Amino acid sequence: MNIKGFIFDLDGVLTDTAEYHYRGWKRLADELGIPFTRQENEALRGIPRRESLLTLLKGHPATEEQLQEWMARKNNYYLEFIREISPADVLPGARELLEEIRAAGLKAALGSASKNAREVIERLGIAPLLDAVSDGNSVERQKPAPDLFLHAADQLGLPPWQCVVVEDAAAGIEAALAGGFWTLGLGPRERVGRAHLVLPSLETVRLQQLLSAFG
Ligand code: BG6
Ligand code: MG
Repeated sequence: MNIKGFIFDLDGVLTDTAEYHYRGWKRLADELGIPFTRQENEALRGIPRRESLLTLLKGHPATEEQLQEWMARKNNYYLEFIREISPADVLPGARELLEEIRAAGLKAALGSASKNAREVIERLGIAPLLDAVSDGNSVERQKPAPDLFLHAADQLGLPPWQCVVVEDAAAGIEAALAGGFWTLGLGPRERVGRAHLVLPSLETVRLQQLLSAFG
């Protein structure tokens, strides 16, 4: 058996904070009078805070001070949303898969671009099921660079080819492929179709099914 570890993205994979990121950006965009749709937000999945803001601004001029203030404002909205997060917010199938991984003696890590990732996994109650956490503070170059997942694999003591990256974002799949990982994409093919295996969600997935698919 080749696969020894799994690296999970957080937002949109283990919990639906992708929706909270959207609402935070939407509120800021409304305040700035900049049109911003749910569809535009799809391209921001997996994209770090600063780049997300620059995309949202669509060339709207801004000083560095304004950029900092707007990022902080959006983050405060986001922090308000995640204060409500509880173990009930783990997406269907995710906790069961993490438990199966642990029971099988395999490793699991988090690979999230978010600087709020630790707080979210604590609130979800899944921190004890993760052997390593790589987040928005761990590396300089974010997705679609492979650095974050390589950092996670390194913490697990595994080479990329023995790890499966689980992602809901196009940028995340690109990052994992660039690093030489196996990839499980969750969501529509238009978004994650470049992954080795695409599923709608983790809801019905079993560890054995994944090990056979990537083995
Ligand atoms: C990613 C999200 O996980 O983290 C992005 O998919 C988000 O939407 C990025 O912008 C950075 O998150 P944070 O919490 O550091 O602003
Ligand atoms: Mg995501």
